[in-house]
This record gives sequence, C-alpha cells and structure tokens, in this order.
Amino acid sequence: MSLKNAADRSVRSSWSLAARLTAWNAGSAFLLILAATGLLYWALVRNVDLEDDQTLGDKVRVLRVALLKDPDDTAAIRQEIEGGWEARQMHVYVRITDNQGKVWFQTPGMDQVLPPTAFRAPTAEPSEGSDVRSPLGRSFRVLAVQVGDSMGRSPAVIQVGMDRSQEVEILAEYRKNLWAVLGVALLACTAISYQIARRGMQPLHRVTATARRIQPTNLGERIDRNGLPAELLALANTFNGMLDRLEESFTQLARFSADIAHELRTPVNNLRGGIEVALARSRTPEQYREVLGSNLEECLRLTRIIDSLLFLARAENPSKQTAKETFDVGVELTTVCEFFEAVASEKRIELTVEVRGKVRANLNRALFQRAVCNLVANALTHTPPGGAVCLRALANPGATIVEVVDSGCGIPAAHLPHVFDRFFRVDQVRSSSGGNLGLGLAIVKSIVELHGGTVHIESMVGQGTRVTMSFPEQMTKA
Ligand SMILES: Nc1ncnc2c1ncn2[C@@H]1O[C@H](COP(=O)(O)OP(=O)(O)OP(=O)(O)O)[C@@H](O)[C@H]1O
Ligand SMILES: [Mg+2]
Repeated sequence: MSLKNAADRSVRSSWSLAARLTAWNAGSAFLLILAATGLLYWALVRNVDLEDDQTLGDKVRVLRVALLKDPDDTAAIRQEIEGGWEARQMHVYVRITDNQGKVWFQTPGMDQVLPPTAFRAPTAEPSEGSDVRSPLGRSFRVLAVQVGDSMGRSPAVIQVGMDRSQEVEILAEYRKNLWAVLGVALLACTAISYQIARRGMQPLHRVTATARRIQPTNLGERIDRNGLPAELLALANTFNGMLDRLEESFTQLARFSADIAHELRTPVNNLRGGIEVALARSRTPEQYREVLGSNLEECLRLTRIIDSLLFLARAENPSKQTAKETFDVGVELTTVCEFFEAVASEKRIELTVEVRGKVRANLNRALFQRAVCNLVANALTHTPPGGAVCLRALANPGATIVEVVDSGCGIPAAHLPHVFDRFFRVDQVRSSSGGNLGLGLAIVKSIVELHGGTVHIESMVGQGTRVTMSFPEQMTKA
C-alpha cells in the first residue's frame, strides 16, 4: 500500500480533467456574458447621449430661428431662454454671445455652473455634444453653435448645456447592479460547469472502478459498455480486448503449470518406484544395474523436459539479440537430412531435399537446425514404412519459405489448432510412454517467432502433413 502511495506521489499530478473542463466552460460562458452586458451598457449610454444631443440641438434650432427672425426682439428670446416648462424640468442652460464673447443673454446663474470656457469652439450646425463637469462637480452635456446668415447679420454664438447629474447617477447605479449580476453569473457559470463536467466524467469513473476491481482472481470481469459515450467506447473495447488476452494467458499459464507438474510426476514416480522395489530386498548386481539403467532413462527424460522448458522460457524473453549469420538453406537442409538418413532408411522412408534456386537466409544457424530437426523427427515418427518425407526451401518475394512435407498418418482437424501448444500430443498415452514430450512443435513456433516469422500446419488424415515456416525478408538478407 505504501509502495503504491509512493508511486502515486511520484507521478506529478496536474489539474484534474473535471477541473480543466470546469475552468474552460465557466471561463468561456462568463466571457460571453461579460461581452453581452458590456455591449448592452454601451448601447444604453450611447442612446442617452443621442437623446440629450437631440434635446440640445432642438433648443439651438429654435433659438437660431428666433435670432435670425428678429435679433432685437429681446423679450421673445429671453422668453425662449428662461421660460418653458421643458427648460426648467430638464435644467437646460442657454447663453447667447456675440462673436467676441460678449454675453447678450444667458440663463440666470449659468456663470457659476457653466462658464463660457467650458464650451468647445462653436460648430456651424448642432452636432455631437461633449461631457463636462461644472466647478461644483455636476455633470453637463454641452453644445456650442455659430449663428449668422450669409449677409453677416446677427453673428452670434449659442451655448447650451444640460445638467445630466441625475442620468449619470442612474448609470452609476446601473453599473453597480451589473457588477453584482456579473459576480453572480460567474458563480453560477462555475457551479453549472462543474456539474456538467462531473456528469460527463461519470462514465470514466465507472471504467476506473471496474479496472480497480479486476484482480487475477476475477479476470472474467469486463467493463460494461452500455451507455458509454463513443469516445470511451473505443477505450472500453481496447481494455476488454486486453483483458481477454490476459485471461487467456493466465488460463494457459495455469494449464501449463499443471501440465509441467503432471509431466514431471511420471518420471519421478518411476524413479521412486524403481528404487523402492530395488531396496525392498537384496538384489543381484545385474538387477541393480537394470534398475540403475532404467533410472538413468528417467533422468534423461527429466533433463530433456527441463532443457526444453528452459529453452522455451528463454525464447519467450530473450535477454539478448540472437546471433545471426547468413547461410545457404539448401546446405543446412542436406545436413539435417544426412543426420536422419539412418533412421529413415531403417523405416524405409524416402527422405529428400528440394531447393528451388539458391536460397540464402540470415538466421541463427543452430536454432534453425533445431526447428528443422524437430519437424523431420515428427514426420519420420508419423510416416509409415514406404512413405516419403521431403524438405523444401524457396525464396518468395519478401520471405524465405522452408517446408517439411510427409505422407504420414496426418492429424485430425479437431487437434490441428492445438499442436503448437506445450505438452500437446494427439495420442497422449502412447506418445508420452514413447518418450515424446509434446514440446517439439512449441519449440519450432518459438524459434520461428524469435526470428520474426510465422509457422503454419496443414494436414489430412491418411494423406500427410505439411509444416511451413516463413521467415521475413529483412531477416534473410545477407
Ligand atoms: N508430421 C506429423 N504427422 C502426424 N502428427 C504429427 C506430426 N507432427 C506432429 N504431430 C502430432 O502433434 C503432436 C505434437 O508434436 P510435438 O512435436 O510438439 O510433440 P511430440 O513429437 O509428441 O514430442 P517431442 O517432439 O517434444 O518429443 C505429436 O504428438 C503428434 O501427435
Ligand atoms: Mg516432436
């Protein structure tokens, strides 16, 4: 447990996926809300400005008409400036000066709130106003317009200003409310995003929980794929596939251990039985020699089993690269053929080598010979007198093919998928008593796979068997 914790700690943990999703979702949603409220606020301010400019512009236009109509009708102009419900309600201030800045008329008290310097240079037509602050700290929207006809009559400047303190206060209040709403929105976005991320991650937690539950004792358990999103379905399939392979390997391993125990038990029992019988009473030297001879046979069988298993274990996990050399496959097959010549002729079996063209291979010579020897030994064992065994080699594009074909008894189709399994013999009883271990083809398979190749067997009962080894080209290049 402590080791596991230490291992967990050694993995530098970064932000969890749920936290990242929450941050991204909440961040983007909040940014959208921020942009939308900002835009709405800007549109509101712009509307207020336009409305105020419209009021100021209307005022200027009315005054300009009055000025141009009769500049000497001071009563009418004064009435226009001071009077009017609208002007008083909206706190509109008006000043009319000549071009030199001499004041003709102005709203009473305007000097204190809006001195002439608060205005920009006059424009010919009422345009966009500007915002100013009075010395007393009040906010105003102001506009200055030049008045005068083309004849140069009544040249004057109209300055109008409007007290906007109330509007500014309302906008400030509105802004305060907006910030409060944005704060709540940020919290809401985070909470909702977290819920969404948590729900989205639930199937992943399910997968993790299943993976955590799986032990060597319950390798049959699989991830439930029902309701999994498409992204996790591929992961679940891969994971389940891995479990299938693991389960198969575990079962094979368990069977293999049982098989080893079984295979070792027979020679050890024979040894023990022989010794016990010999020790039961005194024996003649010949009888002891006989017992020792049969014990030696059992010991040799044990040695063969152990050597073969050791070889298979090493071939499965090679500690170093197998040394390879380039050789003529035809020559090697002929050597093997000569080795079995005596056995073949004793059984009256025709043993031949067929090599199409010059076939060279880059393999481990000793392992290659061992594989071919195992195949030829099998073929000779299962071919009746008068039959034939042929060793063939040919260089196909991309691969070197080596075949051992016999005209023997063949293997029933039901057994064919198992012949490469360890300790498998078609006739378990007869083969094991005859000294066969059932490891020959397993060794052939591991030798071929060690060289990156494949091995294939075809057989017809009563007609014969063909075992084909295929070594890939890169392995066969000189
Ligand atoms: N050429 C063949 N013809 C018929 N049956 C075969 C042939 N080769 C293999 N078999 C069958 O496949 C089984 C497995 O062969 P394998 O070479 O692995 O083991 P074995 O020959 O029984 O023992 P070992 O080779 O370890 O001494 C054999 O027991 C035999 O029944
Ligand atoms: Mg064999």
